Amino acid sequence: METTLAKTPEKRQVVFMAMLLLLWESGSEAIRYSIPEETKTGYLVANLDKDLGLRVEELVIRGARIHHRGNKELLQLDAETGNLFLKEKPDREELCGVTEPCLLHFQLILENPVQFFQTDLQLTDINDHSPEFPHREMLLKIPESAQPGTVFPLKAAQDSDIGNNAVQNYTVSSNLHFHVVTHSRADGRKYPELVLDKALDREEQPELTLTLTAVDGGSPPRSGATTVRIEVVDINDNAPQFVQSLYEVQVPENSPVDALVLIVSARDLDAGIHGNVVYSLFQGGGASQPFVIDEVTGEIRLKGALDFETTPFYNMEIIATDSGGFSGKCSVTIQVLDVNDNAPKLAISSLTKSIPENAPEAVVAVYSVSDPDSGDNGKMVCSIQNDLPFLLKPTFENYYTLVTEGPLDRESRAEYNITITVTDLGTPRLTAQHTITVQVSDVNDNAPAFTQTSYTLFVQENNSPALHIGTISATDSDSGSNALITYSLLPTHDPQLALSSLISINADNGQLFVLRALDYEALQTFEFRVGATDQGSPVLSSQALVRVLVLDANDNAPFVLYPLQNASVPYTELLPRAAEPGYLITKLVAVDRDSGQNAWLSFQLLKATEPGLFTVWAHNGEVRTSRLLSERDAPKHRLLLLVKDNGDPPRSASVTLHVLVVDGFSQPYLPLPEVAPNPEHQNDLLTLYLVIALASVSSLFLLSVLLFLGMRLCRRARAASLSGCSVPEGHFPGHLVDVSGAGTLSQSYEYEVCLTGDTGTGEFKFLKPMIPQLLLQDPGREIKEKPHFRNSFVFS
Ligand SMILES: *[C@@H]1O[C@H](CO)[C@@H](O)[C@H](O)[C@H]1NC(C)=O
Ligand SMILES: *[C@@H]1O[C@H](CO)[C@@H](O)[C@H](O)[C@H]1NC(C)=O
Ligand SMILES: *[C@@H]1O[C@H](CO)[C@@H](O)[C@H](O)[C@H]1NC(C)=O
Repeated sequence: METTLAKTPEKRQVVFMAMLLLLWESGSEAIRYSIPEETKTGYLVANLDKDLGLRVEELVIRGARIHHRGNKELLQLDAETGNLFLKEKPDREELCGVTEPCLLHFQLILENPVQFFQTDLQLTDINDHSPEFPHREMLLKIPESAQPGTVFPLKAAQDSDIGNNAVQNYTVSSNLHFHVVTHSRADGRKYPELVLDKALDREEQPELTLTLTAVDGGSPPRSGATTVRIEVVDINDNAPQFVQSLYEVQVPENSPVDALVLIVSARDLDAGIHGNVVYSLFQGGGASQPFVIDEVTGEIRLKGALDFETTPFYNMEIIATDSGGFSGKCSVTIQVLDVNDNAPKLAISSLTKSIPENAPEAVVAVYSVSDPDSGDNGKMVCSIQNDLPFLLKPTFENYYTLVTEGPLDRESRAEYNITITVTDLGTPRLTAQHTITVQVSDVNDNAPAFTQTSYTLFVQENNSPALHIGTISATDSDSGSNALITYSLLPTHDPQLALSSLISINADNGQLFVLRALDYEALQTFEFRVGATDQGSPVLSSQALVRVLVLDANDNAPFVLYPLQNASVPYTELLPRAAEPGYLITKLVAVDRDSGQNAWLSFQLLKATEPGLFTVWAHNGEVRTSRLLSERDAPKHRLLLLVKDNGDPPRSASVTLHVLVVDGFSQPYLPLPEVAPNPEHQNDLLTLYLVIALASVSSLFLLSVLLFLGMRLCRRARAASLSGCSVPEGHFPGHLVDVSGAGTLSQSYEYEVCLTGDTGTGEFKFLKPMIPQLLLQDPGREIKEKPHFRNSFVFS
């Protein structure tokens, strides 16, 4: 038997199958046809008349038809021919799913008589589906600690085909870590598993992407792929590591607290919490190290003050720890930089507060300086004020001595304030100062000095005893006992002067006292030396001259020398009765032992028996007649005269003078007639000048001759006897009112030319015994002068 369709191998197979079914049909009722799925519509599945042994006309007559019994109406019967065609394209996966074999049951129904024929249509699978994964991507999280050999399940791919057309093999894109193993389930389905070949390292490769491919067993095979993304899950497998193993940093010592010193940083390759590190001080720095480290940021900050001088550097180890207990270390060296934060210090080791003024070189102080800073900050310079006589001497290392430059003088400066300044060379410069007060102690190097080299003191005679007459004073520029002055009288060289009974001195204050009353007439002046002595050691002293002048007091009354009043017989002057008016009867001579005004005498007629007859010249004591005598005048007259000095109060003496008027006086005693003054007045003046000139020259010449003679005489007299050269006393000129002294005229006085206006004629009086030549020029005058000289010579 042949089927019309048995052309292709498939068709031949189908025909063969149908024949088998027919054979089986003859034994049973079912006829089975088999066609591959997806066969085209109109495909001739079978020719029933042949298969069932029915005639074609019979099929039409008996109304043959196909009953699908609820199945999809896949088949169509052509009753004319008995051919069974595919009504539509069958899909095995749709009709049977995974049921195998896929049998579609339907019946061929004939009427008259009703006859059923059971017919099955089997659809066979063809590889018309590719494996398909449920998702386009799969995510796997694998810890990096997973050991090689570990298996990770993967989702299997779906393939609607069955049997060999289903997924047969899985492959994975080539990689270093995984391979895929394909396993079969009990139902024959295949599933993949991922096997780790080599350990993962998240730090090296945190993520892998593989392509998983499923291949079915069809021919040709079909495949489907998906992406497998593998995230490597971190585990704490890395220790933190510092960026630098050694940090070196320099910090100025004056950095404030909380200043940032350094930031250390450690890295941990692990991620997440495994990568969080905590910093801490591991060791070093000492208990008091002034740093604190922030455990999160790694900032090292100052928590206290740094001091280069005590700790110039710090060494520390910092540890960084992660959550897993892994740790890393680094070393930190912090060098403290010196800052000039210490002022120099000055320490006095020894100090002399007082130095003697004349010491050639004295050590005042020994001191040391120090500065804990280093370098220039610790270098120091010492100085004192420029204007002081002191020196700084370096002794050794930082020791200095302060010495005097040379001897000092306490008297010019007794105290020195020495300021020692120590400055370092840092920036800014720091300075220390110390002031030393040095006293210069006194040495007795100054003698007392009198305020005057000589003192002149005055004392009125007749003083009261113990009279303070003055004070001498000396100063001593030393101090203390060196300046304590004691005054004393020095022994006098004059043996006549009994100084100790005359003067006393207050040793403490230099007051001078006259011990007894002085008598000007006895002692007019005296001098002595006083000493001032200090009490130093050695004692120094000095001297001064004190001259005491005794001042005159009017303590002596005038003394009438002529006429002498103590004579037993009153002195009587003779007066010629023929005497002209102005006849010089006598001249009173008086002296006063006082001096000066106290010795200026004036004369005065106090009482007379015939007052109108006599006049007394007040200044020179000449007693003259004031008129011509007459016969009526009594022969005897008594005059009371007064001599008064000019003291205050004045003292006086009275003189009684007896005048006896006699007749017949001899010629030489008669006064010459008065020369008329008028015509010769001019001549007289001329003569006066001439005489003065001549007299001056002559007296000078005479003076020299006399001096020469006197010296010769003196020498001879001294040779002859030991008696001194003395001028004969009692030479009194008689015309002078001033009778200073004790009535003794000095030698030079005897030769003076004296002018008197007593007679009104302007004549000159000369000392006759000495100048006879001059008197010879005018004999008339010489005669006139005679009585005067006679009077003077009375007592010589
Ligand atoms: C699956 O595929 C791999 C690689 O393509 C191959 O080595 C292996 O033999 C295949 N396994 C089967 C059962 O076909
Ligand atoms: C020294 O200093 C003291 C105290 O300051 C002061 O009283 C004295 O007058 C000063 N002396 C001199 C000489 O400057
Ligand atoms: C009178 O006094 C003078 C001087 O004092 C004396 O020298 C003289 O002897 C006295 N004459 C008589 C008589 O006392």
